[in-house]
Amino acid sequence: MVNLTEKYRPLLEQIKSEAPLKPKIALILGSGLGDFAEKVNTLKSIPTDSLPSYPKSTVEGHKGYIHFSKYTDKELLIFQGRIHIYEGYPLSDCVLPVLIAKELGCEVVILTNAAGGVNPNFSPGDLMLILDVNSINIKKEITNLLGLATIEERNKLLDFPSSQITGAIREAALSEKIPLKEGTYILTKGPSYESAAEIKMYSNFGIDAVGMSTVHEAIFAMKLGMKVGAISLITNYAAGISSQKLSHQEVIETAEKSKSMFERLIKKTISIL
Ligand code: HPA
Repeated sequence: MVNLTEKYRPLLEQIKSEAPLKPKIALILGSGLGDFAEKVNTLKSIPTDSLPSYPKSTVEGHKGYIHFSKYTDKELLIFQGRIHIYEGYPLSDCVLPVLIAKELGCEVVILTNAAGGVNPNFSPGDLMLILDVNSINIKKEITNLLGLATIEERNKLLDFPSSQITGAIREAALSEKIPLKEGTYILTKGPSYESAAEIKMYSNFGIDAVGMSTVHEAIFAMKLGMKVGAISLITNYAAGISSQKLSHQEVIETAEKSKSMFERLIKKTISIL
């Protein structure tokens, strides 16, 4: 098991010394959803490439910034860009944003992502509240990452999602009149999208949405004792659900069209929390 706090000590020290406020809520923005960071009052933005040993983001739609922001009276830490397994980084690097959030004092993490709709009732542009995650594709890496010793530590991982965060997201959707789907998200490692056969299997196993992030971040945040909630923007039909070929371009385009609805949901959720 890697001691992440040791490995990233210089980075954590630097970011703590630059922090202009004490954020309580961390937000990780998914593919194409990064513009949210411009819709709140930002006091300071740190480019991640100015932080020692921060893994470089290589994906279009993922700017590498950490923002210290305010919305209403809430102090936020916003990650514009995340670190993906398919970029070749070990899981222990991919959870770095969660570690930073914890070290800065955040108690809540809201994870967002772009995902393919596996549930045939989902369409591109839908928002899905994640009620459960399937980590079958990263079991070994998760075990190596967590190194859980006690039953108490293992039980912490069962607290996903936090009923408080889920309640706030549902309430926000209702008051903003945003239709909200709910379901189970599975992580695939990528880098390519899934085959139609893989999606058919996931569908038979009760999966509603598929993407390449979030699950390990959620599990790690729970290990650190944080409250976690997660939302997917369904950007495309998963492979084989429609005859259209998948592309990252489609993911970005759908995110672009749906971002104002996404922003309203997140803002309202933050104000409720
Ligand atoms: N599969 C995996 N990841 C994704 C997808 C998908 O269909 N859409 C957006 N991210």
